[in-house]
Amino acid sequence: MLRTDLSEEDLATLGQGGLDTSAADGLVENVVGIYALPLGVGLNFRVNGRDVVVPMAVEEPSVIAAASNAARMVRDGGGFSAEADEPIMTAQIEVVGVADAETAGVRVQAARQELMCLAHAALPRLAERGGGLRALEVRALPGRVIVHLHIDCRNAMGANMVNTVAEALADRVARLAGGRPGLRILTNLSDRRCVRVRARVPAASLATDELDGAAVRDGIVAASCFADDDPYRAATHNKGIMNGVDAVVIATGNDWRGVEAGAHAFAASGGRYRPLSSWRVVDGDLVGRLEMPMAVGTVGGTLRAHAGARLSQRLLGTTSATTLGMIIGAVGLASNLAALRALATDGIQRGHMALHRRSSSMVVMLEGDRHDSSQPHRS
Ligand code: MEV
Repeated sequence: MLRTDLSEEDLATLGQGGLDTSAADGLVENVVGIYALPLGVGLNFRVNGRDVVVPMAVEEPSVIAAASNAARMVRDGGGFSAEADEPIMTAQIEVVGVADAETAGVRVQAARQELMCLAHAALPRLAERGGGLRALEVRALPGRVIVHLHIDCRNAMGANMVNTVAEALADRVARLAGGRPGLRILTNLSDRRCVRVRARVPAASLATDELDGAAVRDGIVAASCFADDDPYRAATHNKGIMNGVDAVVIATGNDWRGVEAGAHAFAASGGRYRPLSSWRVVDGDLVGRLEMPMAVGTVGGTLRAHAGARLSQRLLGTTSATTLGMIIGAVGLASNLAALRALATDGIQRGHMALHRRSSSMVVMLEGDRHDSSQPHRS
C-alpha cells in the first residue's frame, strides 16, 4: 500500500482549501473571499516505475474516478513510461524597423557570448542552480524580427525569469539587429519543454461486461483515428486530456492558463489542429502516446503563498519540475483513455450520471446534516 507523510494538521489544511483570506490577499487584488474546488486523489498511477498518489483539483464528476480506473488498466501493462525535455522556457524579443533581417540574425548570433553574460547578470541565482540562457534563435516575420531566448529554468515554471531576461536584453538585441525593441514576453508555446508519455494496455484489461477487450481496443483506435482526421473531434479529444492535466496543474499551484495555451498552440502547430495523443495496436495490446508542452514548476510562484498547493506537491513526492510534468502527462493520457473507452462502449453519460447521482445525494445528505445539527441528536 502506498502511504503519504501528510499529518492530521496537513489534512485539516487541505480540508479548508489550503488558502486563507490573508494569503489570498497577498496573491491577488480586491479579494472578497476564496473560491473552492474539490481536491481528490488519482490512484493506481505508476510512472517510470514509481507509484504516485496524484492530487487533482476539479469540479467535474467522474474525472478522478475515470483517470484512476484507466491508470489501473495501464498498470496491468507495466505503468506509464515518460520522458521530458530540459525545462526550457522561451522568451520573445520583437524588434521592429529592421532593414535587413538576415544581417540582423548574423549580428545577434555573433553577440551570443555578450548576451549570455547580460542574461546571467539579470538572473545570477539561476546559473547557481544550473539554469540560464542556453540558445538564441532569430526569426524573420513580415515587418519585424523576433529573437527567441531559450532559457533553462530548472524547477521553476519560469515566466517571471524569462520576462526579466527579455526585458534586460531587449535594448541591446534591438541595437544589434538594427531596429527598435517591441514586445518582450515569454511564449506559452513552450515547445522546447515537452513531455512524452507512453502507455501499453493488454487488450483483456479493457473488456466491459458487454464487450471483449479486443473489441474495446479497436473502438479506441477508431476513436483516435477520428480525432486525427477531424479538428472538431480533436478539440473534444484534447479537452478530455486537459481534464486530467488541468486538475493536477491546478492542485500543484501551477498556471493552467499557460499550460492550456501551450497545449492548443502545440496541437495546431503543424498547420491543422491535431490530437495531443494517439492510440494504436501493437502485438495485440493497445498502445497510447501523448506529447505536449508542459510548463510547470515545483518552486516559486503560487507555491510560496498557497499551503494547499505545497501539500499537493508533497503528496506527489516530486521535487523536480520535469518529473511533475511527466506525471501530469500520464494523468492526461489516463483521462483520454478513460474517455475513449467510455465513448467506444457505453457512452459517457451512464458513468457520468451515476457519479452525478452520487454527488447529488451527497448534497442532500449534507443538507440533511445541516438541518439535523439544529435538532437534538437522535440515535
Ligand atoms: C468530457 O469532459 C470529456 C470528453 O468529452 C472527452 C472526449 O470526448 O474524448 C468525454
